[in-house]
Amino acid sequence: MKLSVIGAGYVGLPTSVGLASKGHPVLCIDIDERKVEKINTGKCPIYEEGLSELIEEVVSKDMLEATTDTQKAVANSDVTFISVGTPMKEDGSINLEYIKQAAEDAAKGIRDKDAYHLVVVKSTVVPKTTEDEIIPILEEVSGKTAGEDFGVCMNPEFLREGTALQDFLKPDRIVIGELDRKSGEKLEKIYKDFDAPIIRTSLRTAELIKYASNSLLATKISFINEIGRLCKELEIDVYEVADGVGTDHRINRDFLDSGAGFGGSCFPKDVRALIKVMEDYGEKPRILKEIINVNEEQKTKLVEQLQKHYKDLSGKKIAVLGLSFKPGTDDIRQSPAIDIISELKKKDAEVKAYDPEAIENMKKEHPDIKYTDSYTEALENTDAGLIVTGWGEFSEITLDEIRLMKNQIILEGRKTQLRIDKSYREGLSWP
Ligand code: UDX
Ligand code: UDX
Repeated sequence: MKLSVIGAGYVGLPTSVGLASKGHPVLCIDIDERKVEKINTGKCPIYEEGLSELIEEVVSKDMLEATTDTQKAVANSDVTFISVGTPMKEDGSINLEYIKQAAEDAAKGIRDKDAYHLVVVKSTVVPKTTEDEIIPILEEVSGKTAGEDFGVCMNPEFLREGTALQDFLKPDRIVIGELDRKSGEKLEKIYKDFDAPIIRTSLRTAELIKYASNSLLATKISFINEIGRLCKELEIDVYEVADGVGTDHRINRDFLDSGAGFGGSCFPKDVRALIKVMEDYGEKPRILKEIINVNEEQKTKLVEQLQKHYKDLSGKKIAVLGLSFKPGTDDIRQSPAIDIISELKKKDAEVKAYDPEAIENMKKEHPDIKYTDSYTEALENTDAGLIVTGWGEFSEITLDEIRLMKNQIILEGRKTQLRIDKSYREGLSWP
């Protein structure tokens, strides 16, 4: 089956390359011409572990080709995955602008072909979006009938940035929401070589499975961060508490790492979108709201802790180590580092920031701070260092490097394996 994928972002690109590596010829579509050119020369336009090697391979084998022409690519394929962004509006509700545009472009391609076609929504969309927004556009613009001339599925992705390819190729489960059995059957064939349970269900159930999954993962993080605050008062290690709690098979230890809060393009956006949906149905999203409230507070807890050392931060030189929302990616979307730097600037501190991959992206948010080429240079002559993203290299910081600081205070917003004496460092909610 020839496949087309609309949107070559953090979801669309691993999806395209993953499917091509499984033997499906893929046409990858993106409005960004630079991305398309890069992909067609076998280069990877985003920083994602293992993706550049595989892109080179599948492009050289003519299994993956990129284009900006959605209509033509859809007409020349059997199945189209839509994975454009569904960002957040000011009020927290979902912005469907790009996915509606993608559906319109795809429908023109379906109009231009006679054979049956399958459209697969992979972008994260709130329940009933596929039925109430996407299918009507596909029918109106193509002049064809869903369920007869073309099929529709909703196939949420669960991949994490930094491990996107591995998560795509080795998923815990594959969720297939289907308009009808024919649509579900056709999509299941594409995943036949994937070793994972397939869950066939309705379109809106598949949509909600995605939001409920992300919201429960975010709940675990806000929960352990709240417990972490009590651990700080009790002078105990929240990680030891999490180990004791997480050994219960009903709970599981994953996503119980306390720290400076969750960021990224998904958790903050998806929990807020679900809050809006529940309110639209007149339901009270109590737990969902507190997930966000606890997280917003958690993001700047590190600055509060710093102010226990320096009540007045004006003129203080502070090193911020780690800018991406998590290690292994250059993505800074909703990264706690954005809020921490804003807070430090508001208090007239002088910020020196370092990250192995995300500096160029952070310069768009905070162009007016100093960036360094190494964490050592960032620490030099500073009054304190804040570890905000858990990049492995920060565990390598030595005493000699600490001695380059004016005052040797390292505050860990992420637990690292730092091997320097406790007198030089403090954890956010661990000793
Ligand atoms: C994806 C999903 O789409 C989103 O629903 C989910 O919540 C997170 O992951 P992501 O891949 O992170 O979003 O978005 P992004 O990295 O912004 O990629 C979207 C790509 O689509 C971009 O490359 C953009 O250029 C492209 N795009 C956008 C199109 O090709 N056409 C459009 O009309 C809009
Ligand atoms: C998340 C989901 O994990 C993935 O299934 C979904 O498809 C997209 O959203 P991602 O946003 O890439 O993936 O990152 P993830 O690894 O989940 O981390 C999200 C945030 O939570 C990061 O800021 C991370 O630092 C934080 N986190 C994660 C914690 O603070 N503690 C933890 O124990 C785990």
